[in-house]
Amino acid sequence: MAMIITSREMGEGMGVADAYERSAEFLDVMIAPAWAALGPALARALRGVTGPVVDVGAGGGHGTRVIADAVPGAPIVAVEPSPGLRAALLARVCEDAGLRDRVTVLPERLFGPPPPDRPDDPTLPDRLGAVVLMNVIGHFDAAARDRLWRLLADRLVPGGRAVLNLPPPAQPVAVPLTRFCDIRAGRRRYEGWGRAEPAGPGLVTWHMTYRTFDADRPVGEVTASYDWWVLDQKRLEAETGEHGLLASGTGPVELGMYVIQRAAG
Ligand SMILES: C[S@@+](CC[C@H](N)C(=O)[O-])C[C@H]1O[C@@H](n2cnc3c(N)ncnc32)[C@H](O)[C@@H]1O
Repeated sequence: MAMIITSREMGEGMGVADAYERSAEFLDVMIAPAWAALGPALARALRGVTGPVVDVGAGGGHGTRVIADAVPGAPIVAVEPSPGLRAALLARVCEDAGLRDRVTVLPERLFGPPPPDRPDDPTLPDRLGAVVLMNVIGHFDAAARDRLWRLLADRLVPGGRAVLNLPPPAQPVAVPLTRFCDIRAGRRRYEGWGRAEPAGPGLVTWHMTYRTFDADRPVGEVTASYDWWVLDQKRLEAETGEHGLLASGTGPVELGMYVIQRAAG
């Protein structure tokens, strides 16, 4: 008889420390296909950058690996507050001698409500060659974003930049239930489903469901919900502009990627 395991977790806005506590098991493998397109675009956006580079919300480290290839020799600080995802990240880093030599993994959360066991902000280098925030910015509310833009204005070296994407939706609207991933490993198959609903001004709640099948028999289901602050290009330009920064689109339009640099050089 199939055993169905259901768990529910809520995002930071709802008072729980780690929005990825249960989904970490699935997130790294399910986000991997997206990196086939994001990786080359991120590498191009980082052309000419010098270190150090900070990968904010590095997850399991798909982006960290891209950064390491794109900015040879640069020290990289990979910030990842979720213990489950950090385990995948540290494993990926330590498996590769080149990464292990120059990637520092930090467990604190940047500008978010501090997890109870990690109350401090991560210690970042005083001068920053680049800051990468891929699939992350929705975890930052307006106040946290303001601190982020200030950090960039204060610490980016000349020619330095931030690279981020704005995953849809850009407005707080409903997104119908969609299967975004279907992968097989051995005789098991994993499906990832998601839908979003408006949760207030500038806010949606994502409801995710991760299903496991063994030889096509359902054997597990994990649900997870988390808050996501939406942002469109206009608001990104306005917010960064207030700090003397300029946001410009980069890469294929459908990826929604932006480079943020000092407006005056
Ligand atoms: C959707 S995952 C993206 C992971 C990775 N960047 C990728 O694209 O594969 C979002 C990540 O942001 C992290 N995160 C959430 N809030 C954060 C914060 N305030 N500071 C740093 N990381 C944060 C989460 O733990 C999670 O790993």
